[in-house]
Amino acid sequence: MTAFASLPTPAILIDRGKLEANIGAMQEVCTAHGVELRPHIKTHKLVEVARRQLAAGAAGLTCAKLGEAEAMLPSGVRSLFVAHSLVDPAQAPRLAALAEQIPDLRVAVTSELHAAALEKVAAAAGLKLAVMLAVDTGLGREGVRDLATAQRVAARLARSAHLELRGFYTHEGHFYGIPREQQVPMARALIDRICALRDVIDPALPVWPGCSVSARLIAEQSAGRVQAVRPGAYMFGDLYLTEVTGVMRPEDVAVQVLATVVDKPESGLALIDAGSKTFASDRTADNIHARAADGRDLAVVRVNEEHGYVRGSAADSLQLGERVAFIPAHICPVINLTDEVTVSNGDRIIATWRVVARGKTR
Ligand SMILES: Cc1ncc(COP(=O)(O)O)c(C=O)c1O
Repeated sequence: MTAFASLPTPAILIDRGKLEANIGAMQEVCTAHGVELRPHIKTHKLVEVARRQLAAGAAGLTCAKLGEAEAMLPSGVRSLFVAHSLVDPAQAPRLAALAEQIPDLRVAVTSELHAAALEKVAAAAGLKLAVMLAVDTGLGREGVRDLATAQRVAARLARSAHLELRGFYTHEGHFYGIPREQQVPMARALIDRICALRDVIDPALPVWPGCSVSARLIAEQSAGRVQAVRPGAYMFGDLYLTEVTGVMRPEDVAVQVLATVVDKPESGLALIDAGSKTFASDRTADNIHARAADGRDLAVVRVNEEHGYVRGSAADSLQLGERVAFIPAHICPVINLTDEVTVSNGDRIIATWRVVARGKTR
């Protein structure tokens, strides 16, 4: 921590060794089971991380928005999936420009209604777009709810001049809320459901499920039925992945929020200079925004914009001006709130990376 004593805070610290180990570990599981890794870049929003994921063997990248995809072009990505419901024909020129630079560009089709809207966007772009059909597997967000609807969408796509069905995907964000002992049976059920639907429509098409909670389990149990997974947060980690879902060890988390103790207004409470404009507002089920990374009993239990309220048995021993590194509850919004991250190799600061896709919500 000594090298960080002079860093202005709040600062987002990335441990390069742990980052690369997490990228390598997920890639290894996927490769061992013949499943492609197509990481979602919404978590890191960093070209430097995308490059490392691709160099480690990722088959492509996943993005939420066109702006994220555009920001990732310097990574040299050749296969990219925009996993969102595009409806605005005004985006057609950007889509066409992306298609020129990315040989395997795919976008999501998320319902019957959406297929009609996307057709117009693709027509305006003058493209025949490869599309992945979303299947809802329990989150209740985008995606067809039943086989009959999937068949109708597939039939519509088969007649389309501008869209071509190239596979199926699901985002199982509800896995963050399931008890640990149910993760394996739920992953099996998810594979069965999405593959059964695929097998009726076209057994030759790929299925791409797999968030950070489920990706490893799905790869391990795919038995050739699943072709790719798309985890986002796995290479950084956060409290959702360590203490909420238990799929990651705390010591493997590659990112920390460094904050400074700025006051101790009463016994048992310390205030730090990082609040909701650093941690965002996400909390664990125990209402924790962040926890000290060094194992001391210190938790951010409440946030205002520029203040974090730290409680725990070690709170009274904190000194004003002391720097404390925290692991946030949810890493994705934390990265989206910072212009740059500080990269370390052990105790040495080695780089600053710009969060180029920060705020690319369009
Ligand atoms: C469509 C889609 N794919 C993949 C992911 C990656 O999820 P995670 O960050 O849990 O790995 C998300 C996360 O929101 C998503 O919305």
